[in-house]
Formats: sequence, C-alpha cells, structure tokens
Amino acid sequence: MRMYDLIEKKKRGESLSQPEIQFLVDGYVEEKIPDYQMAAMLMAICFQGMDRRETAWLTLAMEHSGEVVDLSSLDGPTVDKHSTGGVGDKTTLIAAPLAAACGAVVAKMSGRGLGHTGGTIDKLESIPGFRTALSREEFFQVVRKTGLSVIGQTGNLVPADKKMYALRDVTATVDCIPLIASSVMSKKLAAGSQAILLDVKTGSGAFMKTPEEAAKLAEEMVAIGCAAGRRTGALITDMDVPLGRMVGNALEVQEAAQVLQGRGPADLTEVCIALAADMLVLCGLAEPEAEGSETAEPEAAWGKRAEAVSPRRSGVALVRQALADGSGLERLKAMVQAQGGDPQALEHPQRLPQASCRYTVLAPADGYVTHMDTEGIGIASMLLGAGRSRKEDALDYGAGIELRKKTGEPVRAGEPLAVLYAGKERLFPEAEKKLLASYAFGPEPPSLRKHVLARVTEKGITWR
Ligand code: URA
Repeated sequence: MRMYDLIEKKKRGESLSQPEIQFLVDGYVEEKIPDYQMAAMLMAICFQGMDRRETAWLTLAMEHSGEVVDLSSLDGPTVDKHSTGGVGDKTTLIAAPLAAACGAVVAKMSGRGLGHTGGTIDKLESIPGFRTALSREEFFQVVRKTGLSVIGQTGNLVPADKKMYALRDVTATVDCIPLIASSVMSKKLAAGSQAILLDVKTGSGAFMKTPEEAAKLAEEMVAIGCAAGRRTGALITDMDVPLGRMVGNALEVQEAAQVLQGRGPADLTEVCIALAADMLVLCGLAEPEAEGSETAEPEAAWGKRAEAVSPRRSGVALVRQALADGSGLERLKAMVQAQGGDPQALEHPQRLPQASCRYTVLAPADGYVTHMDTEGIGIASMLLGAGRSRKEDALDYGAGIELRKKTGEPVRAGEPLAVLYAGKERLFPEAEKKLLASYAFGPEPPSLRKHVLARVTEKGITWR
C-alpha cells in the first residue's frame, strides 16, 4: 500500500477501506508517513468527507494507537462526559459530582484550555494543592474512595490524535466533522468508561456555530460510540451566551460550588441538571425524562451504589435531590481532598487565588443586551491572563470576568456591565475594548434560546 495512492483515492471522493485507514494511522504514528502526506490526506478529507464506516474505522485505529484504560475493576457503572468547549463552561465541576452522588462512577480525564475556551484541568488546578497528575494507581484509589476523579491525560493515550491534532491546528483542517468526531471519540473510548455523554455546544462561543452543525457532529459521535459498544448520547446546549456569570479559573470554581450549594445562576444550574441526569440514564441508574416534563419527588440517593438505586427513578429527580441535600457538593469536596486540594476553598472562596486588580466596565447605552459575541468574551478573559494563546503560556488563576449583564437583560448607561480581574492594571484597556466590542445593545429585548436545545440518542435527535 502507498500513501500516495490513498491520498489520490480520497481526493477523487472515494471511500477508504478499513485496512487502508489502519495503514495511514499506524504509518503516521510510526513516522513512516511524513507530515506533508498526512496534511494532504487531512485536507482531502476536509473537502470530500468520510462516510460513517470510514469515520468509525478511523476512530478505532486512533483509539488503539496507544494505551487504553481498563476501568472494569471498578465497582459500579462508569460514565464519562465530554464538552466540545465554550466560555464559562464549568459543567464538569458540577455535573460529575452530582452524577457520582447518585451512584455513577466518574473516572475522567480532562484537558486544558486553549484560545478562547477554558479547560477543566486549569480550573481544578486553581484550587490550592489540587493535583491533576496522578499515577494510574492513585487515580483508581481516588475513584474507589469517592466515586469521582478528574485528572489530566496521562501516559501514551491516543498518540495518533496528539500528532494529528497538532498537524490539523497548523494546516486549517480542524473544522471538519469526521476529523473532530474521530479525535474526540478516540480519546473517550480509550479512557474506558462504559457510558459516554457528549455536551455539544452551539453558538457564538462554540466550535459549531449553528444548531444544525452541532446536530451533525453529535449524531456522528453518538453513532461511533454506539458502534463501539458504549452507551453514548449527546445533549446540544447553548453557547451563544457564556454559561453562568463567571469566566476564569478560580472564579469558575467559586461559581460551580455555588451551584452545588443551590445558589448558582439558573442557566448553568439547568444545563448541569440535564447533563448529570443523562449521565445517570446512560449508565442505567435512572429513567429518561419524558420530553417536556420534569419530576421532582425524590428520596436521598447519597451513597447508594448502582444496584441499590431503582432504575425507574427519574434522572432529573435524583440529581435535584443531590443538589438539595448537598451530596453533590460533598462529592466534589471529597475528590478535592483526595487529590491533595483544599476542600474548604469550595465554601470559602477567599481561600482561592485572588486577582490583585479589578476594574468595572460600564454600560455605554440604555436598553437591552441583544447579543454577546461569546468567543470575544473568552478572548477578553484570555487577555486578562485567564487563558493561553500558546500552549506554553502561564495562567493567572485569579484572572477573569464577572458578567453583570448578559443577553436579554435590561441595562442603563453607566451601570456596571462586567468586572474584570487581573494581576496587572495594564491588562485592562485591551480587555475592556474586546469586551465592549462583544456586546450589542438595542431598545427591545431579544428572543432567547433554550439552554438545552436537543437530545441525541442512537435512535435520532429530539429538538426541545
Ligand atoms: N476537540 C478535540 O478533542 N478534537 C477536535 O478535533 C476538536 C476539538
């Protein structure tokens, strides 16, 4: 087999066979296929696409390009969650402990932020003492003790994706659905959970700008997961507006803890309840909600293991109970303690890193916030030191933005629009300019989107 012929074949729009896909993944990882040939193949895939079978073969070849994690020795149903990324997206810090409090086992590997989107590992590392680099043995110990552990990607997991993603990043081949789907799903499959819930974001702060594009990506990923024998589902959720009011690492940890104490922002709380409930449904611990209905008459699920929880209970009811009785917060505190962090910091945010400087941005006009360019808000936060423009950039954990006004809210000229936090005053002018350019104002309130737009299962998509 020659890579040249495979590039030619894909360029003509033909499907590649399973052995051909295996050849190109193995050859690239073993450095027998050079970057320039792989780049040509990736670009041909961007133009010609891949069918479902090709995408599934690519995912499996990538999954098995390195180590895979075996979670089968853990006691209880394992479930993973993945977000396609956004601004203010601290859902893992909330949904994962809620699901764990209801009996799910969440042994999760997460990533760091890059560009305008944040990363769970950076948020967790803002908690004093918290360790995200655990050995495999320590990771399993924490999961056995608390039902929950979140660590950075370790070892030689999916080396094919590491190489291919770096190449895609510099060859304008990131925004291609089969390549995104295989990249995400190869990592989720290798991480070993039996059930996988995907949170596919859509809107001005997301990769997928329209709900239709998000639906395509979600359907592709759900099909791959199910074909690989994992119970896989997706929610399509809104990222046209930042989630919650806090953007920035320690600020987001503080807001996540507020949600787990039942006093968080409504949009973030609603999305996290939906995510945690679907995690429970996918791992067999709860019944799905009838579309459009919500039940709320639960009894405590704290501490119960899989077999002890009735599978006929509604996921939303179980999760609401874990919020109300504080068991979700207790799970997060237990994980933080087990990974070396200060659990008190969750209820006493003054123990989290604080920015030394703050600056209030004032609204320039009367009216309503009619739109937010959420990517722009993420970039403003990055300019303050909360994110990285290059992988090697250092973070300021206390930096970020508190959004006082969001889309749909009324505003008066001169009122606080947002508070900026940074380590140096000189970072404020550029961030303020970017932030103000990301807001639009008008005389009428805009129509607002739902926070959870659709659910995708192997049977298809249900819009809400
Ligand atoms: N996130 C990933 O892990 N892979 C992609 O290709 C895009 C986003």
